[in-house]
Amino acid sequence: MKVLIIGDIYSNIGRVMVKTWIAKIKKKYESEFKIDLVIANGENTTHGKSLNERHYHELKDAGIDVITTGNHIFAHPDVVKYIDKSPDLLRPLNYNPYHPGNGTIVVEVGTKKVRVTNIIGRTFMDKADNPYYAVEQLIKTTEKNSNEISDIHIIDFHAEATAEKLAFAWNFDGQLTCVVGTHTHVQTADNRLLPKGTAFISDVGMTGPFYSIIGANPKEVIYRDKKTMPAYLKPADGEGQFSAVLLTINNETNRAEKLERIFIHPQAPDLKINE
Ligand code: FE2
Repeated sequence: MKVLIIGDIYSNIGRVMVKTWIAKIKKKYESEFKIDLVIANGENTTHGKSLNERHYHELKDAGIDVITTGNHIFAHPDVVKYIDKSPDLLRPLNYNPYHPGNGTIVVEVGTKKVRVTNIIGRTFMDKADNPYYAVEQLIKTTEKNSNEISDIHIIDFHAEATAEKLAFAWNFDGQLTCVVGTHTHVQTADNRLLPKGTAFISDVGMTGPFYSIIGANPKEVIYRDKKTMPAYLKPADGEGQFSAVLLTINNETNRAEKLERIFIHPQAPDLKINE
């Protein structure tokens, strides 16, 4: 099984990149393999923050099966209105339990049940509950209920600190199929299998404007940082980048075989899968 996991989609440029590259990847590799499932972090899709209902449908139409999010998910007022009727749009599992929406979903891919869970970090981030406890409880509850058991479990850990994401992945090594980090918008080159087989990368990166500061127009970011004055950040214009990872899962064992990086941008425009 092949799972394409796309890093934080940022603004209209990110949405265009997603539509373009999901189709191109499927086409280029159609004789070698099929992409069985597409997961993407969509928390920056609408003008750099959150995901309105129109853009949610745009991402679904582009071929994304499950949308994960993070700290900006509730920034757009639309989200509280439609998240409860959209179970494939996740908000962090370890958020305030009074928040609407789900933090986890099981999707059927052929004969396999694939669970996708979204959690959020606590280092340099807003308040959230303990992500270890949240996932331990999830695993315990699902083990008791045969309908809830999945063959494969993939987690998007939306967090700032690489060590926080890595420590979490090591703790659950062997229990989870794959842990990918999101949120920093910078793809890391530490994709690997941990000793007991969980696939891991600290950050998948960002899909959006290439000539930008993590998606935003540089001018306002520099003004804010240099002068420590409030600034309204705008999404940058210009050419786009596409950041993703491709997860290969063994169909016999349901274990991760490899996690490879894809990073397409104006200075590296060819589609390449990097081991
Ligand atoms: Fe974020």
